[in-house]
Amino acid sequence: MKIMLSGVKPSGRPHIGNYFGAMRQFVELQKNHRAFIMIADLHAMTTLQDGEKLRQATLDLALDYLAIGLDPAKVTIFKQSDVPAHAELAWVLNCITTMPYLMRAHAFKDAEAKNKEINVGVFTYPLLMSADILLYNADVVPVGHDQKQHIEYTRDIAEKFNHIYGNTFKLPEPLILGDVATVPGIDGQKMSKSYGNTIPLFSTDEEIQKLVMSIVTDSSGDVPKNVYEIHKLFRTTEELDALYTEKKGKYKDLKEALAKDIKAFIGPLREKREALAKDPAAVKAILEKGAAEANAAANTVLASVKKAAGLSW
Ligand code: ADP
Ligand code: TRP
Repeated sequence: MKIMLSGVKPSGRPHIGNYFGAMRQFVELQKNHRAFIMIADLHAMTTLQDGEKLRQATLDLALDYLAIGLDPAKVTIFKQSDVPAHAELAWVLNCITTMPYLMRAHAFKDAEAKNKEINVGVFTYPLLMSADILLYNADVVPVGHDQKQHIEYTRDIAEKFNHIYGNTFKLPEPLILGDVATVPGIDGQKMSKSYGNTIPLFSTDEEIQKLVMSIVTDSSGDVPKNVYEIHKLFRTTEELDALYTEKKGKYKDLKEALAKDIKAFIGPLREKREALAKDPAAVKAILEKGAAEANAAANTVLASVKKAAGLSW
């Protein structure tokens, strides 16, 4: 069985962009992969520096994973910080990576353009992410398009380590769904927690209604582009073409149709999540089991790294 690893940062409510771009693939891939799905709490610390909020967001993301259908009997669901090997390998990777190379990363350049006083964690983010992936010998990493460069960095860094110390790491492949590579937000930019333009995955019907009605429509054509692009996630092109031809130019009706489809999709997920949220102890037990499994897998690879790098006898 091929190995897959992926993760999401616990840094706010996940949205339909996260779901269709990345999380839905986790659920599909768990069927025929040895799957590791992480809560990237160490990565979240680069932006979320409030202990209580991080703890809550971690539990929330675990609930989100379970509610979308990740099955703890099939997948190892774990919290990154429960596996010390991640931070340990990240240090080793720090030592073989140059500053100019990391300075070329898109995410770093974007962060720096917004804020000159960014933390070192943002700078070395790709190395912690490489450690996440390499520790599990992952063959595939399902992510949204914006994470593509991080996987390329992981491959480069793995190759560099292998070159210096001998063949140790497997090179992973990204798995990016072409048609939903970037889901637009209600303002037409990429949907993102940091832009405040999301439709959260577990929204209430009232939230969905309000958010859909506020989708920015471009009046240059008959088809409101952003409404259509989001609608595509919920219906086939044939169904949409029929609907958008019938309701040509009637933006309000099209938005109503979209809101109805989103509510029908989210309703059952939200109910499942509410049921799971009643038993936080059960969720924590799943993460504990996941931590034990993840530590066992990661420590095997870490041991070969230590051997190769001269850190063990
Ligand atoms: P955000 O930008 O909202 O903070 P994250 O960085 O936490 O999202 O991303 C979690 C996962 O969801 C990643 O694999 C990312 O590529 C994917 N993703 C995020 N936003 C979108 C989007 N608008 N369309 C498709 N995939 C997305
Ligand atoms: N950087 C990813 C994001 O922002 C989250 C992440 C951390 C991740 N470690 C990972 C994704 C390892 C895939 C594999 O979405």
